[in-house]
Amino acid sequence: MVHDRFHDPVLVTEVVAFLARKPGIYVDGTLGGGGHSLALFQSLREAGYSDQSLLIGIDQDDAALKEAAEKLKEYKAHSVLVKGNFQDIGSIVQNACRSRCLAPKVAGILLDLGVSSFQIDTAVRGFSYLRDGPLDMRMDSNAPLSAADIVNSYEEKDLARLIYRYGEEPGSRRIARAIVAWRQQHGSVKGTRELADIIRGNAYGGDRVVKTLSRVFQALRIEVNGELDVLRRALYKGIECLDDYGRMAVISYHSLEDRIVKTVFAEQARNDWGPKGVGLREPLSYGAVSLITRKPIIATPEETEANPRARSAKLRIIEQIPLRVPHDEV
Ligand SMILES: C[S@@+](CC[C@H](N)C(=O)[O-])C[C@H]1O[C@@H](n2cnc3c(N)ncnc32)[C@H](O)[C@@H]1O
Repeated sequence: MVHDRFHDPVLVTEVVAFLARKPGIYVDGTLGGGGHSLALFQSLREAGYSDQSLLIGIDQDDAALKEAAEKLKEYKAHSVLVKGNFQDIGSIVQNACRSRCLAPKVAGILLDLGVSSFQIDTAVRGFSYLRDGPLDMRMDSNAPLSAADIVNSYEEKDLARLIYRYGEEPGSRRIARAIVAWRQQHGSVKGTRELADIIRGNAYGGDRVVKTLSRVFQALRIEVNGELDVLRRALYKGIECLDDYGRMAVISYHSLEDRIVKTVFAEQARNDWGPKGVGLREPLSYGAVSLITRKPIIATPEETEANPRARSAKLRIIEQIPLRVPHDEV
């Protein structure tokens, strides 16, 4: 595998096989370095569909947009790259389509959640406990809340709650207490290395230290970027944008994200059959979605070996079912 200096995309073959099936509008809500988008468009081109297709690429990170623009320059005439949050997918699609006189009906949506390797590796962004940088963690550098605001101003009980909820860290109270004690003694926590040292000194030993570090950093990142709320909104809005038989694919990297994707997809698929236990033989409504993946797709051992990031990836896909009028109402 040839590594991309910005980010190695995960489950690319699977994403392309399930999404790139016809000409149309494709939305990459997490453009990153553009790896998935490039593979998707190459596949559309091989099938002779690229001239009639449009890629709408969204990212809230300026560095990602710059990298993706370079990677996708060959497809410039067929792509629109937008700085924005994927929770606004509805209005972003409307605007991009209006200026091209296209109906805002999308053939495929991809959300590849979380942060890119480039963001993690850039110390100044503050995402990594392995690098010394400011407590930032904002994907959108114009966003108002940074990790420093949380670490240095949240009350102990709120810190503990957030580390428990978003990091699923059993020692959350102990870590929160240590952070607040540090603040009282030193004024503030100055950067990622200082925070990592506080966590190391208060994690329950052994293998748990690395897990605790990644859980606390994950919790802060989720809070800074409102990740779970925007994901929920994007799933509902994304489904509304889908064309008949359009598909939405989501790759998640931890259980909190995957639980949301699984629940929203299952709930939308169930709409079709009314309340549980009624035992309908005909679906109630015909405008819902069907699950393409009942169980998530995971990476092969070969991919995991080449790209450790793929280890925790879970891909779930749904398909829009066209709105039909039941026979007896015709
Ligand atoms: C895992 S990377 C995607 C990598 C990409 N698939 C590729 O092939 O390079 C996730 C990207 O999504 C962006 N992102 C995460 N949450 C977002 C959101 N709510 N709105 C817009 N972009 C988001 C991040 O800034 C990051 O660039």
